[in-house]
Amino acid sequence: MRNASRCCASGSPPPAAVFGTSSTACVANSSRRRALSALAAAGGALAAWGLFESQWLETRIEEVPVAGLHPELEGLSILHLSDFHAGTPSLNLRTMRMAVSFGVEQQPDMVVVTGDIVTHPRGERAVLEQLARLDPPLGMYGSLGNHDTGATRDPFSRGVVPESWGAAPMQLLRDRSVVVEAHGRAIEVAGMEPDAWSQGSARPQELFVRDDAFRILLAHFPDVVDDLPPGSCSLVLAGHLHGGQICLPAPGGRMRLSHTEWRYLDGVHRVGDTTLVVSRGTGTTLVPFRLLARPEVVLLRLTAG
Ligand SMILES: [Fe+2]
Repeated sequence: MRNASRCCASGSPPPAAVFGTSSTACVANSSRRRALSALAAAGGALAAWGLFESQWLETRIEEVPVAGLHPELEGLSILHLSDFHAGTPSLNLRTMRMAVSFGVEQQPDMVVVTGDIVTHPRGERAVLEQLARLDPPLGMYGSLGNHDTGATRDPFSRGVVPESWGAAPMQLLRDRSVVVEAHGRAIEVAGMEPDAWSQGSARPQELFVRDDAFRILLAHFPDVVDDLPPGSCSLVLAGHLHGGQICLPAPGGRMRLSHTEWRYLDGVHRVGDTTLVVSRGTGTTLVPFRLLARPEVVLLRLTAG
């Protein structure tokens, strides 16, 4: 009795009230569990879609107007590959294979690869094997990206530059140019190193040596085009941004979650007399997902304009 009195005096709730509190807690826990389950399901669905989209390669033939293109070079076709990011924990090798298969079908005059090629040593052999499937008559040219030179915070990135490209007809252009003849016209292709530009000391316009040539600059970073003096080159081919890689729907289009400071995200742009083409590339970094930024490989057909 003394104990019971103390119990009541201490204000302990009667049994019915205890039961009521327990029920409320159960309901709250159940709601929380349902919310967490829904969140996990939504996250899983989003990740599944992101993984699917990372493999949903867009293949396209696109007419690219270039100011002052010589009539002899009208219709010149360039397969633009970029950002393989081969070797990272992802399905990047599969997308690269699909992109190369498109190139094999299209038989381009020239192939270019605009950086972020082998992002981990385990991807090197696959890159060499795939590029060896292409044999363009005007050659295959590459420039490096920041992941190739190690200038990245991606913890999965251990970029390597192949010492030999094996059977692949690749000419890697590291701050140098080459001249190739087509239909009696000279085409000069230059490849710019990424790190000098990141540090503000690059002068890509000085890579060209032939005034009479049709000049193409391979520059991993698309915003390089804004630094070029007028008349430096006719065509700049770039990659780097993966079209944003992870974007969200927004009024009037999509919203980037990273790299928001970059000006040219993807597609074809005219900057003065220079045409810029930015590839969304085929690979991914950091996470193996894409959202509203499909991978792409494009066969560019040059036309005067
Ligand atoms: Fe990249």
